[in-house]
Amino acid sequence: MSNPGYVSRHNEDYVFDYDPNEDAWTTDLSTLDMSRGERFRDHTFWPFFERLRKEDPVHYCPDSLNGPYWSVTKYNDIMAVDTDHQRFSSEPSIVLFDPEEDFPLPMFIAMDPPKHDVQRKTVSPIVAPNHLAQMEPIIRERAGALLDAVPRGEVFNWVDKISIELTTQMLATLFDFPWEDRRKLTRWSDVATAAPGQGIVESDEQRRMELMECLQYFNGLWDERAKAPPKPDLISMLAHGESTKDMPRQEFLGNLVLLIVGGNDTTRNSITGSVYALNKFPEQFAKLKAKPELIPNLVSETIRWQTPLAFMRRTAIEDVEMRGKLIKKGDKVVMWYVSGNRDDEVIAHPNDFDIERENVRRHLSFGFGIHRCVGNRLGEMQLRIVWEEILKRFDKIEVMGEPKRVYSSFVKGYESLPVRVAS
Ligand code: HEM
Repeated sequence: MSNPGYVSRHNEDYVFDYDPNEDAWTTDLSTLDMSRGERFRDHTFWPFFERLRKEDPVHYCPDSLNGPYWSVTKYNDIMAVDTDHQRFSSEPSIVLFDPEEDFPLPMFIAMDPPKHDVQRKTVSPIVAPNHLAQMEPIIRERAGALLDAVPRGEVFNWVDKISIELTTQMLATLFDFPWEDRRKLTRWSDVATAAPGQGIVESDEQRRMELMECLQYFNGLWDERAKAPPKPDLISMLAHGESTKDMPRQEFLGNLVLLIVGGNDTTRNSITGSVYALNKFPEQFAKLKAKPELIPNLVSETIRWQTPLAFMRRTAIEDVEMRGKLIKKGDKVVMWYVSGNRDDEVIAHPNDFDIERENVRRHLSFGFGIHRCVGNRLGEMQLRIVWEEILKRFDKIEVMGEPKRVYSSFVKGYESLPVRVAS
């Protein structure tokens, strides 16, 4: 149902003439728009980024569903933008669309100092080494139980049975969220990053309604935790934190959404990506089995190869010249981590999945600078534990068909991956 007072944030006049067979090497670069989810859903984007890195590494797209924007596609340029928060702001948004004026979702990933720094500091203890060490046995037990329960000798969807379930359980643990309702977290995470009309939600309105439901639910939890003595879960930490206890509820929602998405889609798609990659590169799986001490390397290589968040956006605070191009004050700038992670000037044979590569932790997937992923160790730990438990149980996880990919240029991941585990 449409709301008569509602104004869309999107450029409704923009028409995207999508051709899945478009040739990356001959297409007209002057109008090339890499922000379309179709390219990611159909897995056709790689040669376009390869061409941009070679021919136009700081590229201007004059029009898109969210207006004009720049694409930065080379590793070192991305690093330069990401570490320069004085000239590249994270406000008002780190995705291409700006917040709706009457439904802002303030979150610290989309804030600049000093507010960013204060809020980041409040949630950091949840992912501090001592807290992670406490969580490790819980995650291990849950991962083990899920893996023990997979059907043997039958094809099943790895994404739903393992990746989603495990990361959702983890998130429910972080929030001390009612266990039976935990799949709501999965839904809210998907909704939060969904571009209306591209798969998950039909409209901004639907997205807003579902997020309101999320806010109401968490408001209830906040009230409950605020009255009780402090506990080491995220909601209690926010409800009792000196700098956060009086935050407006909309800001609370924004930061929750940030933590839900941060701790959910990214790890989920890394877990699936590792299974898929080891099937595409079976010699790497053989290496892993022979040397399980390579698991930490597998984790980092997966996170580079998969790049679960394809980009982050910044907004230029002043005019900036880059590679002879003038990025004007106010322009949107997209740092395509997914492209920088395949830049062969920095990463050798980048399209290969190589668990013994040198400097395996050198990748852009967690970003850099003041916004560098606060949950990176937690994400890595989950992936490490899953593989430690997989190797204890299964000889092989066989991928039985191509994955269905997410319809988004932001969350780079999988909707389904059919697999079989020997009986
Ligand atoms: C920020 C990726 C796991 C919470 C980020 C950023 C990226 C990212 C690219 C932005 C960096 C930048 O702008 O420079 C990933 C990947 C993960 C992962 C690839 C897993 C493989 C997690 C987990 C959590 C989390 C498990 C949950 C605790 C956050 C938060 C921020 C963030 C709160 C905002 C930090 C800030 O603005 O200061 N993440 N993330 N992430 N991530 Fe993660």
